[in-house]
Amino acid sequence: MSQPFTFKDEQALDNIIELRGIGQSYDGNKNWVIRDLDFIVEDKPNQGQFAIILGMSGCGKSTLLRYISALQTPTEGTVLVKGKPVDQNTHISMVFQQYSSLPWMTVLDNVGLSLRYAGVSKKERDEKAMELIKLVGLEGHEKKYAMYPTLSGGQLQRVAIARSILANPDILLMDEPFGALDIKTRIQMQDLLLQLWEKFHSTVIFVTHDISEAVYLGDDIYIMKYAPSKIVEHIKVDLPLHRNRETKRDPHFTQLVHYVEDMMMKVSSEGAK
Ligand SMILES: Nc1ncnc2c1ncn2[C@@H]1O[C@H](COP(=O)(O)OP(=O)(O)O)[C@@H](O)[C@H]1O
Ligand SMILES: [Mg+2]
Repeated sequence: MSQPFTFKDEQALDNIIELRGIGQSYDGNKNWVIRDLDFIVEDKPNQGQFAIILGMSGCGKSTLLRYISALQTPTEGTVLVKGKPVDQNTHISMVFQQYSSLPWMTVLDNVGLSLRYAGVSKKERDEKAMELIKLVGLEGHEKKYAMYPTLSGGQLQRVAIARSILANPDILLMDEPFGALDIKTRIQMQDLLLQLWEKFHSTVIFVTHDISEAVYLGDDIYIMKYAPSKIVEHIKVDLPLHRNRETKRDPHFTQLVHYVEDMMMKVSSEGAK
């Protein structure tokens, strides 16, 4: 008997980010740095998503983020953000380890940069930028130039995060953003990021080398292999959605860190396959 109706599967979510069949060659398709890479992140509008990318240096993590922000087009495959092919009009900014802010501009102008490009009046963009500046704990610093050592490394990353959220609160791309910070600042920044994530329900794609940071922040951890690069492992982090410093004292947290570490070792020892 034929099915009279088709029901939309209530569980099925739209994909906010969809990379399919990605291949990357830099020498006219002779060698493939990336091949058959798929990376799909579902949209959870009232919850957000925290996806972590782990992998050895040079395996293509930054390249993957560049595809999503339309800074680079893969040699083959499709890149969709919210169901549409990315292009130069896709405004998703990235937070890098360093040099994320423009040192010749004040904190206020850095944070409001995307609104300036969008033609928003100075008054309105300053108001919106100030809201974000308060949220990231930089009130009182808004007139300073966004440069070191006027601002500390942690403060500069707060500027970059505020700017990214104002540009596009739905998607945050972060490429080893806390890699250069001292441990205390790093822990503070992790907790700030979790707070912002809970407020904006953003989809965060976060690259790190720190496995403990990956387990603390992530819902989903993806591990990349190299030569050619692709995602080979997907680990679901079954810790409570709301994390705080106590989470790190949960024995299951430690178990997960060991599990992810073993997976990393397995993937890197398999090497090229
Ligand atoms: N223009 C290029 N020509 C040749 N190889 C490149 C080029 N750009 C990047 N690559 C290679 O692509 C790989 C992935 O780089 P990247 O995304 O920066 O890795 P990761 O962020 O994981 O360290 C590296 O092995 C790098 O050498
Ligand atoms: Mg990189």
